[in-house]
Amino acid sequence: MSTESVLFAGQLLLPEGDNSVRLAEGVLRVESGVIVGVDEGPLPRAYNHGGPACLITPGFVDTHVHLPQFDMIGAHGATLLDWLQGVTFPSEAKWSDTDYATAMTHRVADQLIAHGTTAVCAYASVHAPATAAALMALEQRGIGGVVGQALSERFAPSELVGSADELLDQTATLLDRYPPSGRLAAAVTPRFAVSCGEALLAGAGRLAAEHGAVIQTHLSETRQECDLVRELFGCDYVEVYRRAGLLTERSLLGHGIYLEADDCVALRESGSVVAHCPTANSFLRSGAMRLADHLHRQLRVSLGSDIGGGYERSMVRVARAMIETAAAVGESFPTAKQAWSQITAGNASAAGLRDAGVLCEGAPADLLLIEPDVPWQTLPVDPLATLLWSWDDRWLQGVWLRGQRSYASA
Ligand code: GUN
Ligand code: ZN
Repeated sequence: MSTESVLFAGQLLLPEGDNSVRLAEGVLRVESGVIVGVDEGPLPRAYNHGGPACLITPGFVDTHVHLPQFDMIGAHGATLLDWLQGVTFPSEAKWSDTDYATAMTHRVADQLIAHGTTAVCAYASVHAPATAAALMALEQRGIGGVVGQALSERFAPSELVGSADELLDQTATLLDRYPPSGRLAAAVTPRFAVSCGEALLAGAGRLAAEHGAVIQTHLSETRQECDLVRELFGCDYVEVYRRAGLLTERSLLGHGIYLEADDCVALRESGSVVAHCPTANSFLRSGAMRLADHLHRQLRVSLGSDIGGGYERSMVRVARAMIETAAAVGESFPTAKQAWSQITAGNASAAGLRDAGVLCEGAPADLLLIEPDVPWQTLPVDPLATLLWSWDDRWLQGVWLRGQRSYASA
């Protein structure tokens, strides 16, 4: 064995087709933080990590999460707009203190890594220094993806709004520092149409186009919100974003519950992604997104925790909620294989994260070593269904980010 090669042996979670996975016994060879070989076949006698009863997967990708909201999970009872005003904005106001934002992002990174999430599409707060601090902290921890300054010029207390010009200048500076080509990049993140006027939304669209940046925002999460957007703009929610140039193949639109047929056409034609957040939708009682319907209309869909509207840090359990939500509304629901594919390769590709979600040669070694305490390979059930439905966080034995061991269970 080459001294620089590190071997991970076990059951490898490999992509199969566009939205499924398969298990194959084999070994991953990792050198300098990069996967340099994926060798299927019987396990060799010597390897560094794993074993025949271990599952090795790519790190999970969360395509919609709010970094400043990790300490306010559990504010149950209010619906979206009251929840934002009553709990969310006071929590995000704490990010006016950049040291606080740095320390909190490190705590959040601990939690993400401990749950196997190695890449995120994340919102910071409206504060540019705190957003820069969050980018720096996640970069230090080796987490990939995007982070955006949550642009807001109204519908929030005065300490949580800025002027359109100032906000766009600040996000432009973040994009120069963290360009889209990086493993961790800045994103253009108008919070939602309620908090942004037409000029700010159009400026955000222009900025994203100039930089080729990811766009994150919220769309059609509750009926009350949709009514307010119609009142403010005099047109449908999707049309507001279309006019502003915010519907692109790099756009991640959180929720997308209340969509009409023509909305779906605009989303499909633009290649925009609906980031489905089933745990947040049930927690805030926003409604249930019709996943099968969206897929039938050929929309691109990703999956997000939406913490702290969502309460679930584990993308495995968010995937379970995706299946349960579809079943509860009487839709055909994704299989366990599709669920595993969604939280790895599916989310990575929907979010345009080139280097995440797949165990393949040339990919960064963002790896999870999972050792279930059930005989998962010999039960009369699809092994990936067993693992999904009986998932236990204690099974996660280790997390590697670019080949560096970042988390080892006690
Ligand atoms: N809409 C605007 N901001 C937010 C947020 O922070 N969380 C959720 N779930 N929806 C939003
Ligand atoms: Zn959100």
